[in-house]
Amino acid sequence: MFGLTRAKKAAALAAATAAAAVTALLTAPAAGAAPQPIVGGTTTTASAYPFVMQITNASQSQFCGGTLVSPTKVVTAAHCMVGRTTGNTMVVGGRTYRNGTDGTVSRVSKIWIHPNYTTATRGEDVAVLTLSTAMPYTTAKYVSSSDTGVYAAGTTARILGWGTTSSGGSSSNQLRTATVPIVSDTSCAGSYGSSFVRSEMVCAGYTSGGVDTCQGDSGGPLLIGGVLAGITSWGEGCAQAGYPGVYTRLTTFSSQVSAQVNS
Ligand code: ARG
Repeated sequence: MFGLTRAKKAAALAAATAAAAVTALLTAPAAGAAPQPIVGGTTTTASAYPFVMQITNASQSQFCGGTLVSPTKVVTAAHCMVGRTTGNTMVVGGRTYRNGTDGTVSRVSKIWIHPNYTTATRGEDVAVLTLSTAMPYTTAKYVSSSDTGVYAAGTTARILGWGTTSSGGSSSNQLRTATVPIVSDTSCAGSYGSSFVRSEMVCAGYTSGGVDTCQGDSGGPLLIGGVLAGITSWGEGCAQAGYPGVYTRLTTFSSQVSAQVNS
């Protein structure tokens, strides 16, 4: 009886959590929450992480991140590309500040969005952009499909971006970075219920929260051992205890990304 009640409660909680994750998904400011530095970490520079790209609109206003994996190919999130065209999307490399004018600006000649992508919480949150202008920056290596061992729980991962420094806050002018531990799939499923799709997503963050990616960081890299292993995708609010950040599990999409990179 007690066991059943507990199971029912757990199921109800999981359903509620999943529902909350869907509604609160990409925005969700926690009312009255203290400003949590997303990337609770520190400011850094484009020279320190030369493969980190700003994805911008035609006015060069950054709205997502991306990772340069070859001189003309950038990996980002599919949800960043919803409603975007090659005519209103640009990529900027070598620019530390959102309001900078330095670096290299490129037009986008092709946007590949994973053909099965619908919403970030269903997965397949991956896109590859082809640039018109080659970027003169060091590229990042990305995981291959056999590298599934990189996501062992507790492994340190690095996140980077210009996103908001609190849920519902404003974007960071300077590129920021932090490290967060990979969270086990079981634990992440406990947080997000059926919205967490194990084969397509991986979670990272501290149990107590406090360090996370946030709005505007999407599409940017999750690096493990310096190698691109995840793409910033979604989360319940930002940096909340018990709700780690959710990243695209890149090993699952590695072959499809390679097909685009080599096309
Ligand atoms: N969807 C957000 C974006 O478009 C990223 C959210 C990441 N959230 C988190 N709690 N880690 O920028």
